[in-house]
Amino acid sequence: MLSSRHAIAFTGAGISAESGIPTFRGSGKDSLWSRFKPEELATPEAFERNPRRVWEWYVWRMNLIMKARPNAGHEALAKLEGLGIIKAVVTQNVDGLHQRAGSRRVVELHGSIWRVKCSNPACTFRAGIDEPPEEIPPRCPSCGHYLRPDVVWFGEPLPQDAWGEAVSLAKASDAVLVIGTSGAVYPAAYIPLIVKEGGGTVIEVNVAESSITPYADIFLKGRAGEVLPRLLNAVMEGFLK
Ligand code: APR
Repeated sequence: MLSSRHAIAFTGAGISAESGIPTFRGSGKDSLWSRFKPEELATPEAFERNPRRVWEWYVWRMNLIMKARPNAGHEALAKLEGLGIIKAVVTQNVDGLHQRAGSRRVVELHGSIWRVKCSNPACTFRAGIDEPPEEIPPRCPSCGHYLRPDVVWFGEPLPQDAWGEAVSLAKASDAVLVIGTSGAVYPAAYIPLIVKEGGGTVIEVNVAESSITPYADIFLKGRAGEVLPRLLNAVMEGFLK
């Protein structure tokens, strides 16, 4: 990490697990996809079929996130950015915990649960929110259609600006710190591969092996909230020597 000239972090749901936010997959009985069906909640068709049901699920997640706090893993990444060791966090998460921990350059590949947009493709209404809407599903103040969470659902393209920024960051990087992701979902999971293909070093932090592990140069097995502060201390010592 210290010798890298341009490093980024690539994160998934696992970095928020120690903040009490369930991950999507994994052995735990409380992983989201073991309790809910993604096709019933995280697709445009699901929203079309039952916008109230989809909003109920997101309101449940918003309330969970409002009660959660960034953990030591999020905070360590913010400090590594402050030291100039990492240039940005590219995240698949929509919870906003990286920003609450103090990370400044955060690229949200899958959008944000703290933004809404109009479900009418002809309407450009978008807005930030800091708590769940009073009535669900909320209506667009501009055209009257339903508002939806501004997150990427299965089968939808990633936001072009975020994807473009993530790819250029990855192409410029000679190291990527991959934290808490199964690497199961594309195109997001291409980001560490782009760094690898450019000759960069892939360092993975995870409690279990993932689809990234086979090509990771270094695999640090453990929880993000424990491993990342240790990594930060090691960098600080290296810095101070
Ligand atoms: N520290 C580090 N890693 C952890 C921790 C932890 N405390 N707890 C769990 N993990 C790891 C799991 O081992 C798993 O590899 O985090 C990963 C979580 O994987 P997923 O639940 O698949 O989450 P993610 O990789 O972010 O999913 C990608 O899939 O459903 C879509 O849009 C959703 O952005 C999400 C995408």
